[in-house]
Amino acid sequence: MASKDSVSFTVKIALLLCVVCSIFISSAAVILKPFQEANKTLDRNKNILAAAGMFNPDVNSDSEVDGLFAQFTPRIVDLNSGEFLSDAQMADLGINPVSYDQRAAINDPQLSDAIPGEEDIASLKRRVRYATVYLVEGSNGEIEDIVLPVSGYGLWGTMYGYLALEGDGNTVKGIGFYEQKETPGLGGEVTNPRWKGLWPGKEVYDDNGNVALSVIKGVGQGVHQVDGLAGASLTSRGVDNLIEYWMGPKGFGPFLKNLTNS
Ligand SMILES: Cc1cc2nc3c(=O)[nH]c(=O)nc-3n(C[C@H](O)[C@H](O)[C@H](O)COP(=O)(O)O)c2cc1C
Repeated sequence: MASKDSVSFTVKIALLLCVVCSIFISSAAVILKPFQEANKTLDRNKNILAAAGMFNPDVNSDSEVDGLFAQFTPRIVDLNSGEFLSDAQMADLGINPVSYDQRAAINDPQLSDAIPGEEDIASLKRRVRYATVYLVEGSNGEIEDIVLPVSGYGLWGTMYGYLALEGDGNTVKGIGFYEQKETPGLGGEVTNPRWKGLWPGKEVYDDNGNVALSVIKGVGQGVHQVDGLAGASLTSRGVDNLIEYWMGPKGFGPFLKNLTNS
């Protein structure tokens, strides 16, 4: 038997330790995966509810999220046509509204396209062909809430969030960013409840159906302007750009027109 002080004994123990640790880490990753997925879904649903003003972390608890989120129906929209995908189209594409991962689809050439430079006002580089929208329907089937995923570049990185509209497809119910890299206290104020509180009641479109909602430097006036963030003009412009892009003809514009004309 090799002495405890021999090199081969030390190497064997080190290898054994590596094997035990790697089994432990792999098992932990496999066992924790469903919990991570559940947390991701919980977080996404909470953000969708919060954008629509239906979840307040100071008042509501995580245990209420599933019940509140059950009011929403996720649907997949073809951004080019502005129409919902049919079941047959979804089956062909192998996507379904509950599990479709729009953020992953951006890297899939079958599900997304490069945005030509002159159209890329939100600096996104690529746009998905299909987007998930979350709808709340009233008892007579009328649309009461529409929550749309939005994204665009701020100063330091892409900001991801949701914009919630009333059933008219025009009046803002709320906005929220669940992922952003802006500087805390400056651009990071996009997550400040006081700033988000400026959005409800604003209107996206003017009388001609053009995107009129903008984030301006200084104090916003009327239904089409939101105050920019003090000392964070670049982040504010990023929010302004993403609103223009996602509410416009290359974003959800055609969908909102179809929805409100039907
Ligand atoms: C360390 C540092 C971090 C900054 N972070 C941000 C930011 O997150 N968003 C932003 O718009 N501007 C940020 N700025 C400020 C911009 O460089 C720029 O001065 C500002 O956007 C101009 O805004 P104002 O015209 O409202 O003063 C930062 C500046 C410094 C020095």
